[in-house]
Amino acid sequence: MMTCPIGVNVAHAARLLREGKLVSFATETVYGLGANALDVNAVARVFAVKNRPHFDPLIVHIAERSWLPRLVASWPETAERLAAKFWPGPLTLVLPKTTLVPDLVTSGLPSVAVRMPSHPLALELLRLADVPVAAPSANLFGQLSPTRAEHVADRLGDQIDYLLDGGPCAVGVESTVLLLESDGTVRLLRPGGIAMEEIEAVIGPLCQPSHTTAANNQAAPSPGLLPQHYAPRTPLVVVEDIAKLTSPERCGLLTLQPHPAAHRFVAAEVLSVSGNLTEAAANFFAALRRLDAARVERIIAEPLPNRGLGVALNDRLTRASHD
Ligand code: TXA
Ligand code: MG
Repeated sequence: MMTCPIGVNVAHAARLLREGKLVSFATETVYGLGANALDVNAVARVFAVKNRPHFDPLIVHIAERSWLPRLVASWPETAERLAAKFWPGPLTLVLPKTTLVPDLVTSGLPSVAVRMPSHPLALELLRLADVPVAAPSANLFGQLSPTRAEHVADRLGDQIDYLLDGGPCAVGVESTVLLLESDGTVRLLRPGGIAMEEIEAVIGPLCQPSHTTAANNQAAPSPGLLPQHYAPRTPLVVVEDIAKLTSPERCGLLTLQPHPAAHRFVAAEVLSVSGNLTEAAANFFAALRRLDAARVERIIAEPLPNRGLGVALNDRLTRASHD
């Protein structure tokens, strides 16, 4: 397969973005597939390359706060507190949009999702491009998110113009997405790289996601909430009690820590030997990819503790599970 140039030439990548080209770039969460958010043709190519349905809106990435007044129509005090604490970093805020933001970016929603990533290469790219960059995760729609440059090159290498290699993603799971409603309510749309406990320590209790689906191709409040997403090709099931499984011979195993029954599986992946959930998140998608490549009949995953980044990982596991 033909693949695009891969490297660390940020100035070149920034120029390509300004010219309406597609650049995949490292962020601290996962690799993004970026296009100038103000260039509708470039954004349309992002949807086409990903095979992403048009009802699923994109996150707009910025490096400078000075873009905010041009992108969002209101900036409540809660947004200020969250941004002051967590930007740059894996937190996305959904706020009313301005008319500058193309409807294609937001799937026709009156709101736009904005985030300031913390990966130094991403920040430099955004600064040099000097345009807001719409970027979904750089994977085909519904598949596993890429956390290494080679994950992107393998699947999308022939369809993008440059791949900015920032090494393995340190956080490893997508940003936390929060909807800031006009009455001051903050709603969690997607658990992610900033744990709920951390957010609640700053702004108090969050509202849980409303379980709206994208039925009839209508824009959902957050289509990342589609029940099936982030999935390996191999069927995956979440199993509470691994030791009780009767015939794991043809299965792969995903656990947080080393499991005493692991030797009975064809392949086993441990997310963090010490049980650290932050380390587990950083290893999560790459481990799932290895299990997917191990030609097992089924991937058995143990649920993770439901705290810290474990909440986001359990969310991804639930959406990855299918028979
Ligand atoms: O960490 C991340 O967020 C990565 C990196 C590349 O920044 N990006 C990412 O993008 O995960 P994507 O497209 O895979 O997921 C974006 C999520 C989706 O769940 C989408 O529905 C939600 O953000 N979203 C985007 N705009 C929205 C809006 N206006 N209202 C509600 N949800 C929105
Ligand atoms: Mg994605």
